[in-house]
Amino acid sequence: MIQIKTAEEIILMRATCALATETLKYVSSYVKVGISTDEINTLAHDFMTKKGAIPAPLNYHGFPKSICTSRNSIICHGIPKSDEFLKEGDIVNLDITTKLNNYHGDTSATFFVGDKSKFDSRIIELVDVTYECMLAGIREVRPGARFGNIGAIIEEIAHDHNFSVVHEYCGHGIGKEFHEEPQVLHYGKRNSGPEMLPGMVFTIEPMINLGKRNCKLLSDGWTVVTADGKLSAQFEHTVMVTESGFEILT
Ligand code: MF3
Ligand code: CO
Ligand code: CO
Repeated sequence: MIQIKTAEEIILMRATCALATETLKYVSSYVKVGISTDEINTLAHDFMTKKGAIPAPLNYHGFPKSICTSRNSIICHGIPKSDEFLKEGDIVNLDITTKLNNYHGDTSATFFVGDKSKFDSRIIELVDVTYECMLAGIREVRPGARFGNIGAIIEEIAHDHNFSVVHEYCGHGIGKEFHEEPQVLHYGKRNSGPEMLPGMVFTIEPMINLGKRNCKLLSDGWTVVTADGKLSAQFEHTVMVTESGFEILT
């Protein structure tokens, strides 16, 4: 069952999502050549705990850190490491999930490390198109629309640019639980899937690959990488269906 949040829950969702957004903005200023992904993890952990939140990933099904840091060919669920340093020319996704007053807020963005103007145009295109895919998916959100519309538009835009869409990981309902119903696929058919109704809250978080869509899971049990070793980008917002359309909560 897809939950409809009450007015009280919506207030709490806005608060946790605002903190997730603030945390992402804060750590983004530290994305520089030479910093380790574990230092970014500590910055995010300290920032949100000082504001009364719990980092939701920490110990979630055994995840060992407070945020996910997914660099270059890592699609998602990268584990921050003290010996993984950002270098010029990397792209890195920082995925922040807060749990504040028992409600979750989830957002992520992909950043360029170093001088963006020096990046290969195809890499800039990958990151820009991934952001465009997320926004286009969000614009499909309105009462009466089907969840399949989100995946359909994302797939269409990604394929127009000769990029591929990861199938194995998806967006999700969110609230008291980190991951709730429904699964929000980033591919699919228009007018398929459940109906969106006011008060539903979920994430849209497309993972778009430069090469083939296939992925593999590393032996640490978490890190998901592209099978072909090529780059992958991701952006994520938490959104709510309103009476007239959508509200981006993060
Ligand atoms: N934040 C991720 C998402 O967007 C989930 C991370 S689960 C973790 O759904 F355990 F890896 F943290
Ligand atoms: Co998510
Ligand atoms: Co996330």
